[in-house]
Amino acid sequence: MSDKKSSNAMWGGRFAAGPDAIMEAINASIDFDKRMARQDIEGSRAHAAMLAARGIITDSDASAIREGLLTVLSEIESGDFPFSKALEDIHMNVESRLTDLIGEPAGRLHTGRSRNDQVATDFKLWTRDQFDAAIEGIAALMKALVEQAEAGADIVMPGFTHLQVAQPVTWGHHMMAYVEMFARDKSRMEDARARMNESPLGAAALAGTAYPIDRHMTAEALGFDRPAANSLDAVSDRDFALEFLSSASICATHLSRFAEELVIWSSAQFRFVVLSDRFSTGSSIMPQKKNPDAAELIRAKVGRINGSLIALLTIMKGLPLAYSKDMQEDKEQVFDAADSLMLALAAMTGMVGDMKPVEDSLRVAAASGFSTATDLADWLVRELNLPFREAHHATGALVRIAEDSGCDLLELSLETMQSVNPAITSSVFSVLGVDNSVASRASYGGTAPDQVRMQIERWKGELA
Ligand code: ARG
Repeated sequence: MSDKKSSNAMWGGRFAAGPDAIMEAINASIDFDKRMARQDIEGSRAHAAMLAARGIITDSDASAIREGLLTVLSEIESGDFPFSKALEDIHMNVESRLTDLIGEPAGRLHTGRSRNDQVATDFKLWTRDQFDAAIEGIAALMKALVEQAEAGADIVMPGFTHLQVAQPVTWGHHMMAYVEMFARDKSRMEDARARMNESPLGAAALAGTAYPIDRHMTAEALGFDRPAANSLDAVSDRDFALEFLSSASICATHLSRFAEELVIWSSAQFRFVVLSDRFSTGSSIMPQKKNPDAAELIRAKVGRINGSLIALLTIMKGLPLAYSKDMQEDKEQVFDAADSLMLALAAMTGMVGDMKPVEDSLRVAAASGFSTATDLADWLVRELNLPFREAHHATGALVRIAEDSGCDLLELSLETMQSVNPAITSSVFSVLGVDNSVASRASYGGTAPDQVRMQIERWKGELA
């Protein structure tokens, strides 16, 4: 051998020289794909057991392989495994160490398989765990929201459109809106998890294999519902990663919208909510400050997660079948997005569990901005049989009078009311209070506390 670095021990048979340092740097994935060590070993153990069951390798070789792989796993988990960049990735690092430990039988493990189906299998197993973790994390957040909703089912607050006070709603109703959003996120994760649960293992490089393998056996051992039905598709499919990222993006969008509301609500100008000290930070210069940093960071995480989705969509577009090395770039995107999502979910769940609505400022704000003007218009329709358009116009005139005299609708005199429509009676005042306003909106899905309580009960049942 020359002074050149020796060629790769796993695939270097046809190479006279080892890779350039830059080649090694661009090619190696071990720095990140070591996160899939457990999945890699699980997949290899299932493969070895199947090879023996089909008589492709001996039982004693399979036992040596399966035992040796457990040793490798415990070495990795102990934290002092000598990962090598020269061995590129987790697959070859594990196999090389297995060779050190058990010798010749290790060389039989890669029979009837390729790194292409191996990496697809490892990555699917890893991502499947993230679907499960996300489903669990979303459910925990939903529970915290339902508890907030139940405790504040009667608290009135302003409902907004255009961030302008629109109509009074309840705290419970607002919390339950997010329960619906996160329920869809959870169901998206569940759908994608069910769809992705097919095993790529045994697709080999791309065409399948001539060995009499049993793909159903490995699929079952790894908790897959079935083997993927087309070997070309099996090694080149990353839909599961894209679906995880897109579901995560939508979920993070919801988290970000809620986080934005918490940032606004916790400001001195709004004072709708008090966030706990546990999820706030101080300022190094302004002693009075209590900042909603957790909410702000949750609001920002969506940027990273959306970025990961766009990155992987862009990596995958235009790739011819079957495997291309481009696909090695899939993992960091999903790793980062999964970490970000789990952290954001946990932080939001903690914040929601601790936060306290400020009832008096919510009530004052609920009554501000002529928020019961629609109730007044509806009263004119109901009691005086005005067409809604006419009632809308008359109410608008009253809002202008109130605004000009710097008072609320509730503070207008009956005479003033009658100057706009002489048929108005004093019973109109009963609909101008915020409690009556919310109680009256008892249509299905409306803000009336009874309606909201019905939804709370439904979700408590579903989440139990
Ligand atoms: N580290 C590679 C990846 O993550 C493993 C598959 C390599 N396959 C190949 N044909 N070079 O995609």
